[in-house]
Parts: sequence; structure tokens; C-alpha cells
Amino acid sequence: IEGVYLSDGTKVSDLVDLENGYISARTISDPEIYQLEIERIFSKVWIPVAHESEIPNKGDYVLRYIGDEEVIVSRSERGEIYIVLNACTHRGMPVCRSERGNSSHFRCPYHGFTYRQNGDLIGVPAHREAFGNALDKNQYSLVRARVATYKGLIFGTFNEEAPPLEEQLGSLKWYLDMMLKHTDEGMEVIGTPQRWTVKANWKLGTDNFVGDAYHTFMTHHSAVKLKIVPSGDPKFAFYGVHVSCENGNGLGLIGGPPEMDIPPFYGAPPEVVEKIERNLSAEHQKAFRRLAYIHGNIYPNMSFGYFSWATEDGKRPGSYLTLRQWVPRGPQEMEVFSWVLIEKEAPDWWKDLARETYVRTFGTSGMLEQDDAEMWKNITRVTKGYIASRKLKFIYRMGIDRKPEQGNWPGPGIVYQGDYSEANQLNIWRQWKKLMTE
Ligand code: FES
Ligand code: FE
Repeated sequence: IEGVYLSDGTKVSDLVDLENGYISARTISDPEIYQLEIERIFSKVWIPVAHESEIPNKGDYVLRYIGDEEVIVSRSERGEIYIVLNACTHRGMPVCRSERGNSSHFRCPYHGFTYRQNGDLIGVPAHREAFGNALDKNQYSLVRARVATYKGLIFGTFNEEAPPLEEQLGSLKWYLDMMLKHTDEGMEVIGTPQRWTVKANWKLGTDNFVGDAYHTFMTHHSAVKLKIVPSGDPKFAFYGVHVSCENGNGLGLIGGPPEMDIPPFYGAPPEVVEKIERNLSAEHQKAFRRLAYIHGNIYPNMSFGYFSWATEDGKRPGSYLTLRQWVPRGPQEMEVFSWVLIEKEAPDWWKDLARETYVRTFGTSGMLEQDDAEMWKNITRVTKGYIASRKLKFIYRMGIDRKPEQGNWPGPGIVYQGDYSEANQLNIWRQWKKLMTE
């Protein structure tokens, strides 16, 4: 039979009607759909796992997830980056049990097999007495992933056939260059990523960050009332462009109402601005100069936000880049990994302001974070029912009849004027349908 079917005979491609913008609620948290996503999306494409500044030294490692597979991301004695599955080839015990650290090798706590960062098995206790000649160490390496980096971001995939990372990123690269490498040394992660679980399907985070500027009017209205949004305009997220890129990637870039004074380059201090002006092209500078919010997603599950929020009334706004990964933990749960990054060369006060502003807005207990999670978990709760998941269709028609329009925008991708649109969300469903059914 042609096509991919669920066990009750439903054809997966019928759940997504891109022409009319109707998406079946069954796509959200059906367990069979979830399993297909793990096999057909998370096991097929490049997945970001860490930033190079998290493992700067030889021997540094962090534990991360490609889909729901636990992997060790490490820097070897020769400085290369490796990603291996955290499961011993003897019986499958995790060989690394701490979230991060520095070690020249990993020793399994069960029977003591010892591995290098690159996954080579180098030590077997009582090898001769136990195995004699029956075990060839070369055949027992940890399962290795392919590794690629882009502007400090580390990606991995277990798919030998995945096209090169840069092809997957497409025109999103232009925007990643702007966000991740606008000074000589680029961005660095402050501290460790915060982690928390949300009883919501991972796709709700993706859908929100890739294109949902519209929700800010309602969901984050309290942030406007409290003057965390400097313009005080509840439609603050409209004033920008909505950009769809290849392979489900997309973002929105927002300044403020036309008459508003926005500090150049997110209000960065002069010594950072000097570096930005030296590092970025004229087009990049034109795009980056008058922004206050960037939201977007690297398909499938790594979102980013480059935000500027008022701190205390009348004080200088704080800005930061946050990366947020929606790690799938089953059809109705995700674990959020949330990083905060700032320019490596920035003065300490600017870094401190970035961290404080992040904690207040998008950290674990951040006000805007809490606003969003409340929506996503309740959507997951009510749409998982038998009737809801069969009868309910989500409507994705905002901007469906609007033509792309480059205007003065200097960046690539398919550009729409005004960030209230669902073009990026439909773009995600297009990619989902392609990967799930091809
Ligand atoms: Fe790791 Fe046996 S499970 S050495
Ligand atoms: Fe939000």
C-alpha cells in the first residue's frame, strides 16, 4: 500500500490539509504519531545539541538528547567534538552519569568497560579471564552520531544519509550568522541550561516560536501592562517581518512602532557595538540595528529568542539570546532545555543584565515563559481525547491569502510584511508532512 497509515486505517497525510490550512488535532499527541515522529523526524535530520562554549576544553562533556536518545557530547584530547549514544555496548548501561564534566574516558559502572570520547572501547576488566579471544574491542564501539557545527552550534544525527547540515539550514544561516557571530568571538552560554518538564507536546513550542507573534497580544498582555514591553503597545509583536526558510525553518524579526526610538543593536554597550559594526555586513547591520525581538525555530525542536525587555521603569533594557529545545518525552510531555547567551567579549555588567532579564522573562519561573507553558499544557490536555483528536481541526489561515513582499528587508527567505501570520506555522506542517510520509 502507498503511504503511511495509523493502525485504525487513517492515512497520516490526510491529517494535514496545507491548501486550506486545516490540521487535525490528532497530530498533536497521538502515541502512534509520536513514535513515527521519533523514527521519521528526530532520527533523520540534524538536531542541535549544544553550543561550543559549553565544552571549551579538552575532555569537557555534556549529556544531551537527539530526539529522545541520550547522547554524550564531548571534546577529545585532540580538540575534536564527538557525539556518542550514552549506552554501553555490553548491556546498555549509561556509561556517563553526570550532566557535565571533564574526563579523558567513560567507564561503565556495571562491568567496567572503558571508552574514549570517540566511542572506542579501550578497556575490559579481566579481559583474558572473561573473554579470552572471544571479544574484539574494535567491534564494540559506542554508537556514534555524525557531528557538524555552525557558528558555534553543535548538531548531531544518526542518519548516515542526511544531507550536509548547511543544506538543511538553508537561508536561516544568514540569520544565525547575525545572531550567533556578530562580534569577533561570537556568543557564549552563561551558566548551564535550565531544564524543566511541561506536560505538553513538543510541537506546541515549535509552533509558537517559529511564527506565533499573534499570541503576544493576549497571552503576554500582562507584560505590556507591567511595562516589561518598553513601547507599552499590546500589538508590539506586529511591527516586523515574518520569514519562512527552507526545510521548516523560520523566524520573525520585530522592531517597534515606526515612531519609537529603539536603541541600536539591542542597546549593546559601545565597545560591543563597535565590534558589531566591524563584523556584520551592511545588509546584516540594516536588519539587526532596529530590532527588539527575534523569535524562530531550527526545525524540528530548537527555538530561539533574541529579546529586549525593560528592566525597572526608566532603566536601560536588558537583552539576551535564548536557545530553547523542546525535547520530546512522550506524546504529551516535553523537557525544556533553555540556554541564555550573550556576546563573549561583553563587559560583565551587560552579561549580568542579560542573565537577570532572562530569568525574569524566559527562565524557569520567567513571567513570559509561564504564560506560554500554561497554554501548551492545557492544549495538550484537552485535545488528546478520542473525540477531540478526531473531530477538531486547527485553523491555520492567518496570512494565507497574503503575498510575500520583500519591502526594504535586506535578508533572505520568503518575507512577509507584518509578523502576524501563520505562514511559518504552515511551513512547519509542510515539512512535518514531507518527513512523516515520504
Ligand atoms: Fe557496561 Fe556491562 S553494561 S560493562
Ligand atoms: Fe509567548
